[in-house]
Amino acid sequence: MAANSLTITDNRTGKSYEVPVTDGTIKAMDLRQIKTGADDFGLMTYDPAFMNTASCRSAITFIDGDKGILEYRGYPIEDIADKASFLEVAYLLNEGEFPNTAQLAKWTDDVRYHTYVHTNVIKFLEGFRYDAHPMGMLLGAVGALSTFYPDAKHIDDPRNRYVQRVRLMAKFPTIAAFCFRHSHGLPYEFPRNDLSYIGNFVNMTFSIGGKHEPNPVLQRALEILLILHADHEQNCSTNAVRSVGSSHVDPFSAISAGIAALYGPLHGGANEAVLRMLDEIGSKDRIPGFIEKVKKGEGRLMGFGHRVYKSYDPRAKLIKHIADEVFQQTGMNPKLEIALQLEAIALKDDYFIQRKLYPNVDFYSGLIYQAMGYPTDYFTVLFALGRLPGWLAQWEELVKDGEQKIARPRQIYTGPRKRKFSK
Ligand code: ACO
Repeated sequence: MAANSLTITDNRTGKSYEVPVTDGTIKAMDLRQIKTGADDFGLMTYDPAFMNTASCRSAITFIDGDKGILEYRGYPIEDIADKASFLEVAYLLNEGEFPNTAQLAKWTDDVRYHTYVHTNVIKFLEGFRYDAHPMGMLLGAVGALSTFYPDAKHIDDPRNRYVQRVRLMAKFPTIAAFCFRHSHGLPYEFPRNDLSYIGNFVNMTFSIGGKHEPNPVLQRALEILLILHADHEQNCSTNAVRSVGSSHVDPFSAISAGIAALYGPLHGGANEAVLRMLDEIGSKDRIPGFIEKVKKGEGRLMGFGHRVYKSYDPRAKLIKHIADEVFQQTGMNPKLEIALQLEAIALKDDYFIQRKLYPNVDFYSGLIYQAMGYPTDYFTVLFALGRLPGWLAQWEELVKDGEQKIARPRQIYTGPRKRKFSK
């Protein structure tokens, strides 16, 4: 019997099976041989929400949720956030290494070359109502890009995949900024390729009459926030990108699936939900009453809890420092005081301690975005902009992974069978 194996005894039949254990996992398909008879389909696992199922091998992001560790390609997030630019991080996630000077120059030039979108994209955006949610606009417009680049369907060609990834990195900020302008009823501000990636995005959102005076502290704070969001292994939206991408659709369509998943309040939409929650609480004296409601199951403490982190989210720690720097520039926000006290009370409360519920990346990010001048319904767009390099890297990894096939889970059928049909 091999040391790295699992022996399973099926008490229904008395038979024993030996299943190899590799990287702390067994292959679900190895269970299929466990049958009660010739017409038995074979044993399956039941795992709604993938609570204990690895869906891929990945060399991009490492998380230890118990210890609060996050690494991109092996580099601790704390070091990356301190020293790297967003474009360097995007390169690292996608190519596996930080770029050298020549590689960074080429990567930056490639992205800069593709920042403009076809003017017909503007016509789509103009079709949205004045109060359309920017995430809805973003996912529609990014999905529509596939119609402009039909060559993107050639996903077996590495050079072609690179071009599409560059296009997405380049055009995403432009579309995201256009969504912002649409919501504000402002004319679209076109990309300025003399500016940095972040500088150009900020300019496209805030420039009025062709003028915007950038605040370097706020710009670097935004850049760090995007870096902190850049990848997070097999989260809901990344899983959506991989699942849709597994059908071999073009990357624009796969990424728009990721945007759709991110939109939800249990995922990227949580940063928006935190602000709405802080508004609902309204003042510090109402915090204890709110916590009691949450403990009774009447709503959740948004920005708290995580499927993987069962200790303080390392990104939330870094974001707290960014908040200090940003609020020094913009002045204190009364909602930050509510948030700080809410966190302090929750961290001492048995309900949250027992369930290992700590602030996640979204608890403070919304407050910072608001201080920067972004409206609440735009926060998740900023999250999407940050997460894009991770989605692209995960999509690239998926396409190259010979073990992957079209994602197609099984089910346990619970409905009726063989009913008599009569009209
Ligand atoms: N407030 C109050 N109770 C909570 C919270 C919360 N934020 N999160 C989890 N719980 C409780 C649940 O009610 C449950 O309690 P029970 O055991 O008594 O039934 C227990 O903690 C476990 O919760 P699950 O929902 O099983 O945990 P899961 O891992 O499925 O959910 C999630 C993780 C979705 C992030 C959850 O913690 C949540 O809804 N948080 C609020 C939304 C949020 O901030 N999302 C952003 C996540 S980070 C990101 O996507 C970038």
